[in-house]
Amino acid sequence: MPDAAAFVPSDANLDELHDAARRCHGCELYRPATQTVFGEGPEDAEIVLVGEQPGDQEDRQGHPFVGPAGRLLDRALDEAGIDRERVYVTNAVKHFKFTERGKRRIHQQPGRTEIVACAPWFEAELAAVRPRLVVCLGSIAAKALLGQSFRVTVDRGRFLSVREFQVLATVHPSAVLRAPDRDAAYAGFLADLKTARSMFP
Ligand code: URA
Ligand code: SF4
Repeated sequence: MPDAAAFVPSDANLDELHDAARRCHGCELYRPATQTVFGEGPEDAEIVLVGEQPGDQEDRQGHPFVGPAGRLLDRALDEAGIDRERVYVTNAVKHFKFTERGKRRIHQQPGRTEIVACAPWFEAELAAVRPRLVVCLGSIAAKALLGQSFRVTVDRGRFLSVREFQVLATVHPSAVLRAPDRDAAYAGFLADLKTARSMFP
């Protein structure tokens, strides 16, 4: 199975990784997508936030979490006292996966093959940033880091020791937007982000 490893420069800094990722053909998702949407944020960030994959707006604009889910994330980060400018924000998969329905592009969940194929980019980002905490937004990100058996519903909102950093998993902001009881879902999301914030008194 092809993957991104052949495209990832070794011992690269974030700018070099970002640039190299533009040319990744590690899986088939680069074909229909507009561009690679790489992670963004300071190289010395203490927190890495990782989502699933870019959405429609992210694919068009080339930046992570700039669409509706990103706006909800921005609000929650602000309320939790976390400065988005100081965190590194990325996705488990760097290309938008979608099907076309007329003029609309409908988000499709990335499959196991694509998540595994794209993992070398996330590993390289972690190696460059060396965060103290990784916050996984939703189960795709959490499983990419913690393994297939991880259940966000069971283990969300608490610190887990993984390698040389801590991990905290929470729901995906898009799931908050879709939740039948959006206020309750948002409150739970915010509580988890406040827990994350508590690591940095
Ligand atoms: N959803 C994600 O998981 N990532 C983005 O960048 C945008 C929406
Ligand atoms: Fe490469 Fe990841 Fe894009 Fe696939 S999704 S082409 S592995 S950057």
